[in-house]
Amino acid sequence: MSALAGRRVVVSAGPTFEDIDPVRFLGNRSSGKMGFAIAAAATGLGAQVTLVAGPVALPTPAGVARIDVRSAAQMHDAVMATLPCDVYIGAAAVADYTPATIAPDKLKKQPGQGGLTLELVRTRDILADVAAHPRRPRLVVGFAAETRDVEAYARAKLAAKKLDLIAANRVGVDGSGFESDDNTLVVFDADGATTLGPASKADVATQLVDLIAARLP
Ligand code: CTP
Repeated sequence: MSALAGRRVVVSAGPTFEDIDPVRFLGNRSSGKMGFAIAAAATGLGAQVTLVAGPVALPTPAGVARIDVRSAAQMHDAVMATLPCDVYIGAAAVADYTPATIAPDKLKKQPGQGGLTLELVRTRDILADVAAHPRRPRLVVGFAAETRDVEAYARAKLAAKKLDLIAANRVGVDGSGFESDDNTLVVFDADGATTLGPASKADVATQLVDLIAARLP
């Protein structure tokens, strides 16, 4: 029998875009490839997969139910609406801050204005909210992309957000590692660490999903 047969898995993927006005937004370099590969790998193991995707132009993996969203707030609502599930994998690069207001009209330069200050407010933490939910999934898996001190920062997130696993990868100070087709992940739990890759994102995703499946009762 497939290792994830009968399991409901929810994966978030891609960036979020936080609108400033009708033509501008704050975004990030996430390509969505890792999250889409995880959704495909979980489907391959027999899971019923819902993929909550930020704005990316990737094809939907076969057999996956996809929900497209744009902002962190929309992603929060969409993910919460999928609960309960057995496994939540937060692979999306969710914006930590969003503009306090969205200007209804395009912002115009003002004569003599040498700069522009945007007021940003914190977004809600989807991963932490899933982990603290009354109908918490059996396994909650986070991601951490770090430019330095990977293990210390990843372990801090594992504890602070009350996760079961966190998959960390090092990204270059120039942002490299985001658009790539290959990846290396170090997966931390409370006790130890497992390195997956370097390999294609598809292979790393398969290894990660195998590791998750082995932890389900
Ligand atoms: N995450 C989330 N909701 C947010 C922010 C992040 O669900 N509003 C999730 C991401 O999907 C990912 C993990 O949290 O699984 C990333 O942790 P985070 O602390 O946000 O990392 P960074 O944005 O890199 O933050 P920091 O500046 O603290 O390193």
